[in-house]
Amino acid sequence: MITLSDCLELDARDPLRDVRARFATPAEDTVYLDGNSLGAMPADVPERVNALLLDGWRDARRRGWSHFDWLEKPWLLGESLAHLLGVGARDVVFSDSTSVNLFKLLAYGWKLQSPRRVIVTERENFPTDVYVAEGLARFVGDGAQLRLIDGPDDLPAALDGDVAVVYLSHADYRSGYRWDMAATNRLIHGCGALAMWDLSHVAGAIAVELERDGADLAVGCGYKYLCGGPGAPSWLYVHPRLQHRDWPVIAGWMGHEDVFAFAQRYAPLDGVRRHLAGSPSILANVALSAAADLWKSIRPEDLNWKHRSLSTLMVALLEQRCGALGVKVTSPADYDRRGGHIAFSHPGAGSVSEALLAHGVVGSFRKPDSIRFGLSPMALSHAQIWTAVDRLAQVLQTEVWREPRFAHVSV
Ligand SMILES: Cc1ncc(COP(=O)(O)O)c(C=O)c1O
Repeated sequence: MITLSDCLELDARDPLRDVRARFATPAEDTVYLDGNSLGAMPADVPERVNALLLDGWRDARRRGWSHFDWLEKPWLLGESLAHLLGVGARDVVFSDSTSVNLFKLLAYGWKLQSPRRVIVTERENFPTDVYVAEGLARFVGDGAQLRLIDGPDDLPAALDGDVAVVYLSHADYRSGYRWDMAATNRLIHGCGALAMWDLSHVAGAIAVELERDGADLAVGCGYKYLCGGPGAPSWLYVHPRLQHRDWPVIAGWMGHEDVFAFAQRYAPLDGVRRHLAGSPSILANVALSAAADLWKSIRPEDLNWKHRSLSTLMVALLEQRCGALGVKVTSPADYDRRGGHIAFSHPGAGSVSEALLAHGVVGSFRKPDSIRFGLSPMALSHAQIWTAVDRLAQVLQTEVWREPRFAHVSV
């Protein structure tokens, strides 16, 4: 039996204790388990954004571009994250949204692989990932096609000499299933295809080794576990051996080798920076830089200790306290196959999720019967996991979730 004092003991050993203390305390006393959707806010974001507005925009105005690090921010932010992705400091940059970066890199990889014409992805991949791939195939025409698989067991049969890119989410946004990246990349490379990954449900929750494990291209959200703020720019990674092979898909002036030369002829910047298409979003990057200072201070092994500890605790407590009350953990039992969040099912999941909100636990509902609890190692304590499951057990035991006020399920 796990007790609250066990959780407090784990908190006393938490290597990210000091990082947790650097998050803002929200107005409402909730246990926030939705970091897989929008991560918590580092405490110094308002001060940084305010300084940007007053010293940067109001006072320096156009001179801000040379007085501050606005132009360099896309790769400075990347340098802060690189060690948690297991990539070189110069191999990752922040720009644009996740969907836009998915398109930029998928199309780049697809072109490098010409004349191969097939993109393999999961039928149930996150919708934007599938739309981007379908949209690319329609855009290029000329026999380009998608080959859809239903999971890891289907992958070997989908691979042949026509496959240009295999394009997967490292962790599934519903079940949390996390692919074995190294083994999958070996399989993909065995047929001569490139491996492209969407790490939105992993980056910032679990430290990965993209370069060691053979990823060719990767993209992820900045606003989930990375805590970069609503609509934060996304990151993109290109393996060094692929960085110089071609023009970027959007050959914009910020990816030019000499931005302020205003040359009429395009020449790409060195390396991954060529994928920076236009002006960086300075307001968003400054908000994101507060989180970047937190990433910088985190050792990959500490992030992984903390996430494993939170995830193992959450599963054990859900089973211990709520198993007999209709909760069934649907995320994989093996920790190494789990991404950032835990998913569980309950027949009344929508109303249970609403009732939880009223009882101070923020999770997210996914149709038809699933609730997700996002486990942000930077912002959460073990004691909060205890409190969340305790509140869930109360909601289920009292059956308060059946009240009509919880019948309408919000998004
Ligand atoms: C796996 C995955 N990819 C991409 C996105 C979203 O992309 P964008 O930032 O372009 O909205 C999400 C959003 O939740 C996601 O879960």
